Order: sequence, then structure tokens, then C-alpha cells
Amino acid sequence: MSESKSVLLSDSATGKSVELPLIPGTVGPSCIDIAKLPAATGHFTYDQGFIATASCKSAITYIDGDAGVLMYRGYPIEQLAKQSSFLEVAYLLMHGELPNAAQFSAFEHEVTHHTMMHEAFRNFLFGFRHDAHPMAMLTGMVGSLAAFYHHGLDLEDPEKRRLAAIRLIAKVPTIAAACYRYSIGWALRYPRNNLEFVDRFLHMMFEVPSEPLQLNPVVAKALDLLFILHADHEQNASTSTVRLVGSTGANPYACVAAGVAALWGPAHGGANEAVLSMLAQIGRPEDVGKAVERAKDKHSGFRLMGFGHRVYKNFDPRATIIREMTHKVLAELGVNDPMLEIALKLEEVALKDEYFIARKLYPNVDFYSGIIYKALGIPTEMFTVMFAIARTAGWVAHWLEQSAEADSKIGRPRQVYIGQTRRDFVPMAQR
Ligand code: CMC
Repeated sequence: MSESKSVLLSDSATGKSVELPLIPGTVGPSCIDIAKLPAATGHFTYDQGFIATASCKSAITYIDGDAGVLMYRGYPIEQLAKQSSFLEVAYLLMHGELPNAAQFSAFEHEVTHHTMMHEAFRNFLFGFRHDAHPMAMLTGMVGSLAAFYHHGLDLEDPEKRRLAAIRLIAKVPTIAAACYRYSIGWALRYPRNNLEFVDRFLHMMFEVPSEPLQLNPVVAKALDLLFILHADHEQNASTSTVRLVGSTGANPYACVAAGVAALWGPAHGGANEAVLSMLAQIGRPEDVGKAVERAKDKHSGFRLMGFGHRVYKNFDPRATIIREMTHKVLAELGVNDPMLEIALKLEEVALKDEYFIARKLYPNVDFYSGIIYKALGIPTEMFTVMFAIARTAGWVAHWLEQSAEADSKIGRPRQVYIGQTRRDFVPMAQR
């Protein structure tokens, strides 16, 4: 925690100065509270992309980008990856503490019994083009939950809010699997209550009527671990979107649908799909050098997907775990994927290259996750959907935290106006 309580800011243009309070965190840097700045100096602050700006106070996830630290509710990601499960992590993110056995069992029971969808969802889903991207369908379908479950949802009631969060964690996998099956023309599968969270999802994805599905425990374990690693990441673009929409008082389904849309972009959750397309495009380990050269050329419009991170400037601890896991999972499943060879070569070449060293660009969580998803039999178009299933736990935790704030404010950034100055309207005939 910081010792100083304020910073003095003086404005050389006006000679005015203002004392701005410091808001300490429990760990990590304190933040300058600039709310008084416009009134005191007449200036706003400008921070494109929120490089230096905290948008909220949160007790959920902590990242130290220089040290490569990620903690959910204080627990290091490495420990959770080794010892926890996705559903336990979802509980932890939502409630702030690890559950005891009874609490976990009650939570699991609730999530399990909210996995079903209203039957009318089928009609909605069947309205999409057969070749629609699953993320397009997911965005629409999650938003449509408001049409089924928003009625009577009193956002002032913490219990109702908690139930909405449970519904989202429970139903997003059902929707995700339905989107996939629709896209390949398979009959939809209902969620099976006798299965655990990940097994149930795999069943909804891959079961066919003609033969029983043999679930591979290696696949289920790997998927559970990937879900843990993707569950939350403090104020990333999609979570910030959820919070911004939430700040207007919109219902949680609309907030999470907005989060899904934000996640889709290749600079964010869409990167895992983009990594695989990039590796396929590179084609051979011998051509990695050319790709790296192209990524360094600012005019090429090409970046190494799965490389770089706004916060991690040392290494992404999730990438370290996934890298190790990729080798293990591929060996256990007996998969020999030439993409892995290309990925390893790409990592090796980029990490030795001055351009990437100087800019502190390291493989991020998405660099290896696509290779594992592929080995697990998840189709490429579903990679970002998988991310969304996991991140729903984080989105609802942040929405719950924000909704419980006594002093919440609508998110409303300002701008530096660079348009025309005042001018008079010219009638069309005179233009
Ligand atoms: N390949 C080549 N150059 C890069 C890359 C890359 N992947 N990433 C950043 N740079 C360069 C960039 O051109 C800039 O160079 P210069 O200083 O000479 O202008 C410098 O590094 C800083 O980049 P930036 O765009 O200002 O950094 P940012 O913090 O705004 O962006 C990022 C972070 C993740 C969007 C970016 O690194 C990127 O586009 N990476 C590829 C996409 C990706 O893998 N995204 C997944 C992120 S992790 C999971 C998630 O968030 O969902």
C-alpha cells in the first residue's frame, strides 16, 4: 500500500494547482483520483485505450504484468490450475471465498438445474443461416435470454441478481453447444444432469444418437483447466464492456451479450482462432522467419497473433501453464500436430528477435490454447466460444460486484473534440 495520500498537480498554462487524492490498492500501485481535475483546472485527462486509467475498484482479480502474476481473489492462478476446478473457480470469483463441501454441492446443484433452455430458443436458433459463425449466434442468443428471464428480474434484489448470474454460467454452455450443432446440422442435445459441468458440455457438443459417447477424461481435464485459465482477467475489453453496459442499469443478459461481442475481436478473444489460421497460413516451420519479418513490418498489416499483451510485459502466466499442458495433452491423446512444430519454431524465432524483445512481446494465453482445442476435437470456429463459456464466470462476478456498489455511476467518458468549430448551416441549393 502506498504511504503518500495525495499528489500535487500544477498546470503551467494557468498557474493553478490541485491536490489529488491517491486511492491505495491492497497490493499494486495506487491510483490518482482525478475527479476534481476538470473543476480545478478546466482540463480533462486523455488516455487512449486506457493505458494509465483504472475504471473501477475491484476485489476480484489481480494482475502484476511485470512480474507475470495473476490471482483470482488472492489465489495464484498456478495453484488454482493445479488444485481447483472451473466450477469451484466460478464460485470463488462470484462469492470471494472458496466454497466448503456443502456450499460447492449447493452451487453445483443450482448450476446443473439451470442448464435447460426455454423450448422457444430452438425456433430462434433455427432462424440463423446454417453457416453463421457460432460467435454471431452466441451474441444474439445470450442477448435473447433477457426476453425469457428478464421479466420480473428485480435488479435491486441481491438474490435475484445471484440467480441471474447462475443462469448465465449454466446456460451459456448449452447455448454454445446448440450453436455448434446447428452449424453442422446435428440435432440438438439436452443437458444431462447426471454429468459434471465439462462432461455435460462435451456431451451436448459431441453425442450422436447412433452410439454412446465415450468421454475421454484427458479431454475433460484439459478443458476444465482451460476454462480456469480463461475465467477472469480483471478489466479486459470484454469485462470493461460488461461493466459499462451494467453501469446503465441494463439487465445482466444484455451486459454479458455485449461482453461476448467485445470478446469476438481478434485483438481479444478472437485471437485463439486467428492463431490457428496464422499457423495454417505459415504452413511450414521453414517459413516462420518470413512471417516474423512480415509481423515487424508496420505496413504489412500483419501481427503475430497470440503475441503481446497490454498488461503482461514479462510473460503471461496462463501461457506458461498452457504451453506445458499442450505437450502433455498432445502426448496423452497421441496427437502429432504439425501446427505445434510451427508454433514452437515461431515462439523460438520471435523470442530471440530484437523487435519482440524491445517491445516485450511474449506469447499470450491464446498462442497455445488453439492447438489444444484442436487436439481436443473442438472446431476452430468454436475456439472463441470456448473462451466465452469460461469468461462468463468472470463477467457475472464483475457484474455482481458492480451491482452491489452503493456509489455506482454510469460510465461516461469524455473526448478531445477534433471536429469543425462552429459554422452556419448552408441550404442544399447553395452548397
Ligand atoms: N505482432 C507484432 N507487433 C506487435 C504485436 C504483435 N502481435 N503486438 C504488439 N506489437 C507491436 C506494435 O506494433 C507496437 O509497436 P511500436 O511501438 O513500434 O508501434 C508495440 O508492439 C506495442 O503494441 P500496441 O498495439 O501499442 O500494444 P497494445 O497493448 O495496445 O496491444 C495487443 C496489445 C494484445 C492488442 C497486441 O499485442 C496484439 O494485437 N496482439 C495480437 C493479438 C492477440 O494475440 N490478442 C490476444 C491478447 S491476450 C487474450 C485476450 O486479451 O483476449
